Amino acid sequence: MRRKLVVGNWKMNGSRVSNAQLLAGLREAGPWNADVAVCPPFPYLTEAALALTGSGVALGGQDCSAHEQGAYTGEVSPGMLADLGCRYVIVGHSERRTYHGESDLLVADKAKAALARGVTPIVCVGETRAEREAGQTEAVVKRQLAAVIHGLGHCCGEMVIAYEPLWAIGTGLTATPDQAQAVHAVLRAQLRAATDRAAAMRLLYGGSVKADNAAALFAQPDIDGGLIGGAALVAADFAAICRAASV
Ligand code: 13P
Repeated sequence: MRRKLVVGNWKMNGSRVSNAQLLAGLREAGPWNADVAVCPPFPYLTEAALALTGSGVALGGQDCSAHEQGAYTGEVSPGMLADLGCRYVIVGHSERRTYHGESDLLVADKAKAALARGVTPIVCVGETRAEREAGQTEAVVKRQLAAVIHGLGHCCGEMVIAYEPLWAIGTGLTATPDQAQAVHAVLRAQLRAATDRAAAMRLLYGGSVKADNAAALFAQPDIDGGLIGGAALVAADFAAICRAASV
C-alpha cells in the first residue's frame, strides 16, 4: 500500500514571525502516519529547516531552475535546494505555467534537474475550466504528463504527480472525489505504460482541499495524498488534513 503524502504549498505567503508560529503548531500537532512536507518561499527555507529539525516534517521548494548554476539571475538551482535539506520540489505548478509561461518541456527539464540532485519533483498537471467544459481534460493532462515521462526516461518512476485542476485552485470548488479519481486513474494508466514503478508512485490531488473534504478524496484508490494551498497556512487546518491522510 502506498503511504500517503501531504504537501503544503505556502505560495508567496508568510513572514518570519508567522512562519515560526505555523511550524511550531505543526510540530505540536504531529507526528502523523503519513509523509508530510511544507514548501515555504525560498528566503525562509533555512529557518524552516531549523524549525522542523527532528519533527519528521520534510521540506520542499516551490520551484527550481532547470540549470545547475551560472548566470541565471533570480533562479534557484536544485543543488541549492538539496544543500538546504529539501527533499521535494514542486515543478510545473499552474501558477508558474500561467504567469511565467512555463512550457511542458521546461517543466520536464526542471524535473530532470531536480532528480539529478536527489530532490523529488512534484510535477503538477491540470486543466482549465474551459478545457474541462470542452471535454479536453484527459488530453491536456496526458500531454503534460507525457512531456515529463519522455524527459525523465527510466527515472520517471521517481517523481510524484499532483493533479490540480485550475478551476479548483483557491476557488473553494473542489473536484468531487469521483472527478479527481477519474483523472488519477488516467494518469496511473499512462504511468503504467511507462514504468514498472507506476503502482508505487504517489499521485496527489490539489485544489481547495480542506479539513472537511480531505478524507473523502484520500479514500479514492488512486489518490495518494494532497497538495494543499490555503489550508496549509493554518496549523490546525493543515494538521487535520494530515490526520485525514493517516491510516
Ligand atoms: P488551494 O488549496 O488554495 O486551492 O491551492 C491548491 C494549490 O495550488 C496547491 O499547490
